[in-house]
Amino acid sequence: MNIKKINLHHIAIIMDGNGRWAQKRGKIRTLGHKEGFKTVKKIIKFSIEKKIKILTLYAFSTENWKRPRLEVIELMNLFLFALKKEIKNINKYNIQLKIIGNVDSFSKNLKNYIYQSEKITSNNTGLILNIAANYGGRWDILEGIKKIILAIEKGDLKVSQIKEKKFSQYLSTANLLPVDLVIRTGGEKRISNFLLWEIAYSELYFTDILWPDFSVLDFEEAINFFISRKRRFGKIR
Ligand code: IPE
Ligand code: IPE
Ligand code: MG
Repeated sequence: MNIKKINLHHIAIIMDGNGRWAQKRGKIRTLGHKEGFKTVKKIIKFSIEKKIKILTLYAFSTENWKRPRLEVIELMNLFLFALKKEIKNINKYNIQLKIIGNVDSFSKNLKNYIYQSEKITSNNTGLILNIAANYGGRWDILEGIKKIILAIEKGDLKVSQIKEKKFSQYLSTANLLPVDLVIRTGGEKRISNFLLWEIAYSELYFTDILWPDFSVLDFEEAINFFISRKRRFGKIR
């Protein structure tokens, strides 16, 4: 499989099903999140091998705050643990790490770690890894609109200049290639406020496999699904 030939550059994944994976085994949901972290590492490695340019992973939505306090705390702890533990490897693999989402709501400690990790890896030229944390597609669009209004008020931007391409630059995925393929594990067939603007023409792949069970072979199957699609972008062939 030659990724360049099939025009697959940006993959976005809704990593769903951790809780159910654990509950099926009579374990607490948090254990599913920990197991899910192992899948994250496998999928990142595979993406690098396959020379995918951009991988965007949905880790925590703006709606996930509505979960029990303890689960939210555990998720934050896992996030911090994962960053601390893996930042050296991330750098070694030449990954450029970006956290997309409203990091303002995170603890000072986590925020610091995020900034440091992004800074350390900012000049890396390999895989661009976006972790969507406290991310919501609607939040991102609103933030973009606010920034645009400010730019207009300051006189840096004219209303007539706001075209689709311009608007994209005010989103947290600014300057990235479009999302070619969205994968959602865990059986639900919905977007759950993930990239809204960016997926206008993405191919969508849903699988019942729970995220901790999602293997490299399953990932390949999703890529094969993508290869089998005829992308028309409104044209006829
Ligand atoms: C996805 O798994 C991870 C996050 C949303 C943080 P879930 O925790 O949603 O797992 P299920 O869907 O309840 O099984
Ligand atoms: C989507 O999963 C968010 C992440 C995977 C981070 P959810 O489990 O939160 O989505 P819903 O509630 O089933 O729509
Ligand atoms: Mg879920």
